Amino acid sequence: MTDQNLVLNTTPHALARELSGLLLIGGELRPAATGKTFDVVNPATGDVIATAADGGERDVDAAVRAAVAAQGAWARLSARERGRLLVECGRRLVGHAEEIGRLLALETGKAIRTESRVEASLVADTLTFYGGLASELKGETVPFHPKMLTFTQREPIGVVGAIIPWNVPLYLMALKIAPALVAGNAVIVKSAEEAPLAALRVIQVMNQLLPPGVLNILSGDGPGCGAPLVTHPGVGKVTFTGSVETGKIISHLAADKLIPVTLELGGKSPMIVMGDADLDKAIDGAVAGMRFTRQGQSCTASSRIFVHESLHDAFIDKLKAKVDAMTMGDPLDEATDIGTIISPQQFERVQSYIALGETTAGAIAHRCSALPTDERLARGLFVQPVLFTGLANDHRLAREEIFGPVTCVIAFRDYEDALAMANDSDFGLAATIWTRDLRTALDATRRLQAGFVQVNQNLVVQPGLSYGGFKQSGLGKEASLEAMLDHFTHKKTVIINMD
Ligand code: NAI
Ligand code: MG
Repeated sequence: MTDQNLVLNTTPHALARELSGLLLIGGELRPAATGKTFDVVNPATGDVIATAADGGERDVDAAVRAAVAAQGAWARLSARERGRLLVECGRRLVGHAEEIGRLLALETGKAIRTESRVEASLVADTLTFYGGLASELKGETVPFHPKMLTFTQREPIGVVGAIIPWNVPLYLMALKIAPALVAGNAVIVKSAEEAPLAALRVIQVMNQLLPPGVLNILSGDGPGCGAPLVTHPGVGKVTFTGSVETGKIISHLAADKLIPVTLELGGKSPMIVMGDADLDKAIDGAVAGMRFTRQGQSCTASSRIFVHESLHDAFIDKLKAKVDAMTMGDPLDEATDIGTIISPQQFERVQSYIALGETTAGAIAHRCSALPTDERLARGLFVQPVLFTGLANDHRLAREEIFGPVTCVIAFRDYEDALAMANDSDFGLAATIWTRDLRTALDATRRLQAGFVQVNQNLVVQPGLSYGGFKQSGLGKEASLEAMLDHFTHKKTVIINMD
């Protein structure tokens, strides 16, 4: 354990340069074995702000060796000692939250006030939450036979590979590394190509307190760095958040090794607004649920909003007015509500969906807010939020994950129709219903096919509450005690014959 305080660097550009071209393996920052790097771009300006190490097979192997070497001693610490270290990491990260939030805003285009700063503090919160659960790694005694003491115990899996996306890289990383570490595993994170820097900073800060090799991070692309991490014989578990397509590739690779995977994949989450709903609260819920401040780049985005016909027109007017009042601009500016899309590829993808909607007969695109006029942002990947009306639930825009600030508002008359449309989806991640009627609310909570159902609110994933999708939205749970026990430990049964 080095236990030094890192010097705070609140200039995100300088910090980005400082972290350029580096991986963190065995407690040490180092370049990729090949020496190769790729550019990290500020999506608000198009400027290259840093490079990232282009990790590959040799780096995966070095990280697995370091993790294997460290894991035994880590697992032999008492659970509460591991928990205490995680809580300590959380405390240390609170001191770095501003610096890390600004770095995240710079590399992802997510606005500092509405998104990036909030996310940086959620990391500390998640580590603190799981640190406190260490003593819950319990087994059971089983009344199998009076002359045999029979019990179960929880053991770490060993080395965990955590592959993370760019949309909420820090929080989603924390939801994986915290339970894995507290349970006694060593972890290797593979960051997303688009957002390697803030994640590296978090891991670097934590490495000031953790034994070397327990927590490592690689950057690199999916096939070149992520896939070798999954297939490496030393990795005993993979946890992934990202696209359905990549989730299936990872699942296949893991099946060949017969190792467990947790998959948090996409969504097309419905929001049902009944005729008796509190309209203003539902509007606020739609703004929050669509994650407009994150440019809609969320797997739980309320991207299908079913509104009772009696409220439909008022709903559109009010929602449009709310989103119009949001400010798009420089992600590092405190006044900014909405920043940029992450990358040119995602920008093109979102624009092509909008174009498809706009050329569909009967559809109306309500464009909201205003693009920034600042010359410095002329190359920024800004997309005006779009509310579509007049699109059917079987249209591609209502079926496929857009991952942009685009939602389909669909009118309904009958509750049963709304429910049927909500469930008519390949996905099943999250759902909300807005009503003052308790019977309708309860009925919907039973019948909505989604892993996370809320009535009259639209919160994001919360530490302490199990979170995970039905259908194509994934396998397994995150964020809770259950997630740590079921997904990051083996359960061993032991019998002692006392006859
Ligand atoms: P992706 O699923 O390809 O990337 C996520 C992570 O997986 C990245 O770290 C990437 O390097 C890694 N990866 C990619 N291919 C891999 C492979 N063969 N083996 C191992 N790791 C691999 O997602 P991408 O391409 O960034 O975004 C495409 C779409 O995916 C988005 O438009 C969105 O619809 C969805 N998505 C969903 C997310 C969610 O939170 N559920 C997060 C990010 C993307
Ligand atoms: Mg991909």
